[in-house]
Amino acid sequence: TDPALIDGPFIGFNPIPVVTDPLFDDVIVPPGYIATPFFSWGDPVESDAVDWLPDASNSWQEQLKQAGDNHDGMHFFAFPGEPDRGLLVINHEYSNPTLHPEGIKIINNRRHPDDVKKEQAAHGLSVIEVCQSADGIWHRVYPSAYNRRITAFTPMQLSGPVAGHESVKTMADMDGKTVLGTLNNCANGFTPWGTYLACEENWHNYFVNHDETDYQQRVSHHRYGISTSPLAKNYGWNTVDPRFDATPVPEAAHLGYVNEPNRFGWVVEIDPFEPDSVPIKRTAFGRFSRECVAPALAENGQMAFYSGDDTRGEYIYKFVPSQRYDETVPQRNRNLLDDGVLYVARFDDNGQGEWLALHHGNNGLTVANGFEDQQSVLINARAAADRLGATPMDRPEWAAVNPNNRDVYVSLTNNHLRGSEFEINAANPRADNHHGQIITLREHNNDPAATAFEWELFVLAGEKENSASAPNLTGNIQGDIFSSPDGLGFDADGRLWILTDYDDDEPVMASMGCNQMLCADPVTREIKRFLVGPRGCEITGITWSPDYTTLWVNVQHPGISYPASDGQTRPRSTTVIIRKNDGGVIGT
Ligand code: FEO
Ligand code: CA
Ligand code: CA
Ligand code: CA
Repeated sequence: TDPALIDGPFIGFNPIPVVTDPLFDDVIVPPGYIATPFFSWGDPVESDAVDWLPDASNSWQEQLKQAGDNHDGMHFFAFPGEPDRGLLVINHEYSNPTLHPEGIKIINNRRHPDDVKKEQAAHGLSVIEVCQSADGIWHRVYPSAYNRRITAFTPMQLSGPVAGHESVKTMADMDGKTVLGTLNNCANGFTPWGTYLACEENWHNYFVNHDETDYQQRVSHHRYGISTSPLAKNYGWNTVDPRFDATPVPEAAHLGYVNEPNRFGWVVEIDPFEPDSVPIKRTAFGRFSRECVAPALAENGQMAFYSGDDTRGEYIYKFVPSQRYDETVPQRNRNLLDDGVLYVARFDDNGQGEWLALHHGNNGLTVANGFEDQQSVLINARAAADRLGATPMDRPEWAAVNPNNRDVYVSLTNNHLRGSEFEINAANPRADNHHGQIITLREHNNDPAATAFEWELFVLAGEKENSASAPNLTGNIQGDIFSSPDGLGFDADGRLWILTDYDDDEPVMASMGCNQMLCADPVTREIKRFLVGPRGCEITGITWSPDYTTLWVNVQHPGISYPASDGQTRPRSTTVIIRKNDGGVIGT
């Protein structure tokens, strides 16, 4: 919508204050709005699921049919021609120790196999059907043939340039084309042809390679920080499930599971409307700690998908499909994501920028430099981007595209090593950057396929000017303060919604309070606080009903007892549903 056509103020709610009560255990929204828990860890998803047990004693087999843990990126898809009926697709990024009655147990350096299976069952995604009743309220539909859990066990197809390549073959998959599961699905993307794009973020935390010599030589392991310790960080699956031990086994076919980590870090395309469909890992997007894929679509059908690689000093990428989207030929779009060019961003201090293509044979991406072929460029995208001179950023998280002008907004959440390990530059201007910034990119001629762009800093998060804090903690926010922008989303009118993820401990707690969601006007840069979540949570994942009068947002890993909020019940990651009492558009 052209903002000039909107009735009343662009951002019409009265902002709420920070909440610094260390025992805050609820969700608050502005006067005139209501926020209600909608879908929590353990809720039944597939038919015949059992109810969640508050002592966390549900078995791994029961967990397979229930909502997973750590709700993150999500998207609402309306059924074609039925705006009052749809599917919500929700990532379950990882699992908390609260998944088990007594937390994580490691006995004789081993996990219990059933505990690991429960964690694997709590990863992945949920697809849930929702419908709107006559009073405008959205409800879950249960049972439904569309309700589906995807987990770390679900068979998936590898597709695109890397499928079948030597470097993705394992002793269990001699063809290099079938992977079990998706892991650490953080932010997300979606397509205009009605599919969901799950993104594999911190997959390296699940793998080990004990062979230090091999590890140092294997770029696909060490450039991504796979562990060399006996216990993988999340949380020692390798001790009972051999495919998470990527130490080479000389006598085994394809050295055992040394290539298993190469089968994660991709974009996974899922068709929620076909409950039996096999998810597809699209390897043309390249492999890194894939935060998200925010789509841009030009009038001529040209698309681009923008991604962060959320690690300190990593890069911003975009993938440009070779073919244009054509809504008149639905079948042709089905493999649009298998062919295209992966680019990485260089930000020059003069406000200009360039997209550098990760093309084998060009700009040093050669056999002599260790890149055998285009497949090894895609698998080792970080190392390829190093060579191209991309700009190391302050932990790039979500991207979002303004529907009014296709400007791309990327959150750079924080980086306390800026100014020491990483050089200060205009795009990452603060040493010891605790609060982060949001950067805006404008493609040359507004063309998603452009290789040149202009950029500017949209906002530096942090304290108000003249606060008592150190100078590097001071931001330039016009309006309500926050730290560590993470999730981003645009509604149809072009309001930018900002979701935060910081440690809500002292001293940040004293000024910023619990994690929050804010609403920004991209033109005036005014920012107003819309929601505060319970202590210990991050706010992440955002989507709307087709008329934008209902918003869903995720409360991830709440710390006390939300959503029961009784001070006793174990906390559960929860999708929250928000409505305006008068049924109006959220944010007006
Ligand atoms: Fe899962 Fe980058 O946050
Ligand atoms: Ca998270
Ligand atoms: Ca995140
Ligand atoms: Ca984060």
